[in-house]
Amino acid sequence: MHIPTNWTFKNLDIAENFDAHVIEQLPWDPMATDLICHLARCFLQDNAVLVDLGCSTGTITRKLADVIEDRNIKAVSVDNSREMIENFQGVGEAFYGDMMSLDLYPEFDVCILCLSLMFTEVSKRKQFIRGLAAKTKAGGVIIILDKIEPPAGYLGTCINRMSIKNKYESGVEAKAIIDKELSLCGAQRPATEGLFDQFGLHFQQFFRVGDFVGYIWENSEGP
Ligand SMILES: C[S@@+](CC[C@H](N)C(=O)[O-])C[C@H]1O[C@@H](n2cnc3c(N)ncnc32)[C@H](O)[C@@H]1O
Repeated sequence: MHIPTNWTFKNLDIAENFDAHVIEQLPWDPMATDLICHLARCFLQDNAVLVDLGCSTGTITRKLADVIEDRNIKAVSVDNSREMIENFQGVGEAFYGDMMSLDLYPEFDVCILCLSLMFTEVSKRKQFIRGLAAKTKAGGVIIILDKIEPPAGYLGTCINRMSIKNKYESGVEAKAIIDKELSLCGAQRPATEGLFDQFGLHFQQFFRVGDFVGYIWENSEGP
């Protein structure tokens, strides 16, 4: 897969090779998506609504295929790359659109953002999270896996080096690691931890490898 100078998902080569690329770049991704799907399954009762935002090729709904079928789940996946939607191999409805436009998709019992928030406009994120919370049905959840800003000081340096080590040891060539890092400039902006602790919403952590963190928020307040 060719790494463009300026990273984009709106590229057929990237969409067609995306699944292998993720595992190469983030060797822990299969475990993280298994955990996300386990949590999703715990909150998907009969006839529930599942929304997967920034779905790419549909890994999440593919992994949840049996519960979607068995519990008559309405699964809605959204991505703003036409190339990803053309290569969608997940389950349920998938359409091209900007997930920041909250009225594009229904209220949900489970909403998943797996590695997609870090590619959105920073200035819109706070209101987006607030809007998502408002679309969460009582008893429902928002599950987010995202890169967050590394801690200050030497620990931040250590964590950056750990990410490089993980990629290198999973077989990615040194030049490809550097090319990808530079390509991501201006495309991938990590979230801040404060984003998940605002408006009285207290997201809880369920996963962490270095600066990639899994958060979950449950609407336990009722309608
Ligand atoms: C790293 S991939 C996500 C991987 C996928 N969630 C998975 O679990 O395999 C990020 C995806 O988010 C999508 N994306 C980024 N910003 C978006 C937006 N504003 N609306 C919809 N999709 C977006 C990209 O097109 C890309 O397919």
